[in-house]
Order: sequence, then structure tokens, then C-alpha cells
Amino acid sequence: MQTVYLNGEYLPLDAARVSVLDRGFTFGDGVYEVLLVYKRKIFRLEEHLRRLDNSLAAIYMDNPLTRDAWCQVMHRLIEDNPADNQSLYLQVTRGISARDHAIHLAHKPTVFAMSNPVPQRNFTSGIAAITCEDIRWKLCNIKAITLLPSILLRHKASQAGATEAILLKNGVVTEGAASNVFVVTGDRIKTPPKDSGLLPGITRDLIIELLQQEGIGYEESGITEKELKTADEIWITSSTWEIVPVIKLDNKPVGNGQPGKIWQQVMDVYSRFKNSI
Ligand code: PDD
Repeated sequence: MQTVYLNGEYLPLDAARVSVLDRGFTFGDGVYEVLLVYKRKIFRLEEHLRRLDNSLAAIYMDNPLTRDAWCQVMHRLIEDNPADNQSLYLQVTRGISARDHAIHLAHKPTVFAMSNPVPQRNFTSGIAAITCEDIRWKLCNIKAITLLPSILLRHKASQAGATEAILLKNGVVTEGAASNVFVVTGDRIKTPPKDSGLLPGITRDLIIELLQQEGIGYEESGITEKELKTADEIWITSSTWEIVPVIKLDNKPVGNGQPGKIWQQVMDVYSRFKNSI
């Protein structure tokens, strides 16, 4: 039986219980992180913990655990799991209260963490995506557990036979339902800037860091619907999916309908970096 962490205890998954009055359950009042573990080592740990701090601060919460306490929890969960590559999930909610929208700063948070084997999926031959209006709120920089809009958007994609929904706000790309977006036109790589209504993805930032190291040019600027629809390559990025080429958008081929050359080049750099840690 899988071991999970809940409020200071390590428990079998079946024994972990949260009150129905937990604000995560009644309001979706909480934040989360997803971190990848490769060869039993946590990937981009500091970056994820920094984003967790930012998400908590944005919802008026202190981080309930120190950096070292989080590390201790994560390492214990990794040890308990036989898989070499794992996906760690951390969640902090505002804890139990009467069903009252008002925030009382004395709420005792609920802290939950688990680690699962990385699902075996191979998206390197490319996926289909659809475009959708970005129906989400203005604070997408917060990694909030309140994910209903993203779930509905993913469902819409899946009903259309696609894997991801690429979101447009006022005719400009924000991100995917659970991923960031890059496009390539000719040899120009572009991704939307961080202040344009998206989650500042850790994978997105790493790709930018690697592009800089390799001396490959890129731009952080708005991508219009037309640019998206005429791009030679589209990639979506996330910790779980890494860098995935979109080969079909709204049922039409992207570029020549195959994963692009620049995607392959950047994917190779990413894989080398991952294997070097
Ligand atoms: N989601 N944008 C959104 C809305 C996301 O939900 C995610 C990741 C990303 C990519 O962020 P990162 O590179 O830090 O994983 C961008 C995670 C994986 C999830 O919700 O499971």
C-alpha cells in the first residue's frame, strides 16, 4: 500500500482522511505543486518550492513547512516508492473551518503529499490540440487547486479527439489547460511573457535557460491566434509532459504534420540536461 504524508504523519493511502469541512473540499481553497523525480532525484526542487511560496503568499498563507521539512517529506515518500521516476504532488489547503467565505488567518492548514510512479506515456510522436477561449480567472499565476475551468477545457479537447486545449484570451495565446505554449515560425521561437495570465511554468523557464545557454534565439512576446495557426511548430510544456510537439491543431496539420526540427533540437538539449543531474 502506498504511503502518503498528511499533517505530520506518514500513512497508508487508505488511512489518510481529511474533514469534509476542509476548505480544500468546500471551496477549493488551496494550492499545489507537481514535481518530477528522475532516477530518484528531485528535478528543479528550488524552483518548485519558490513557486509554492509565491502561490501561498498570493492567497494570504504562510508556508506551513520549512524548506528542509518539505525535503524530508519528499525524500521519505520517494524512498517508500520503488519507481526510479516519480511524480510528487504537494498540496496545502487553508484547513478546516465553518463554511464561511471569510478568511481567518488563524486557520490551521492541511498539508498533503504523495508520490506516484510517472505514468508511461510517449508523446514524442506528437499530439493533437484544439484552440479554446481562455475561460479562467485573472490569477492564473497562482497554482490553485481550484481547477474546474482547466478540467472542462481538457474535457472539451478530449471530446474533440485531442490531448490539450490551447487557450486564447482576446485573440492572444495564454497557455494550455495544464501546460505552457511555445511556437516556432521559421527559426523564431516564441512563448508568451509571464505577466500575460499564465502559470509561470518551471519547464518553460528551464527551456528558456537552456535556449540561452545554447545561444538559440527566442522571444517572450504575445502570440496571436493567426501566428499560432500558421506556426511551423507548436510545443506544449509541463513537468509531467516535458516538451510535447503539437502536430495537429483544430484538425489541421501544424507545419508538415510531424514533430519539428527545432523541437527535436531543444528536446535533445533538455534530455541531456535531465540526464546530467
Ligand atoms: N500543471 N500551466 C498550467 C495551467 C499548468 O497546470 C501547468 C502544469 C503548467 C506547466 O508548469 P510546470 O512546467 O511547472 O509543470 C502550465 C501540472 C503538471 C498539473 O497540474 O498537473
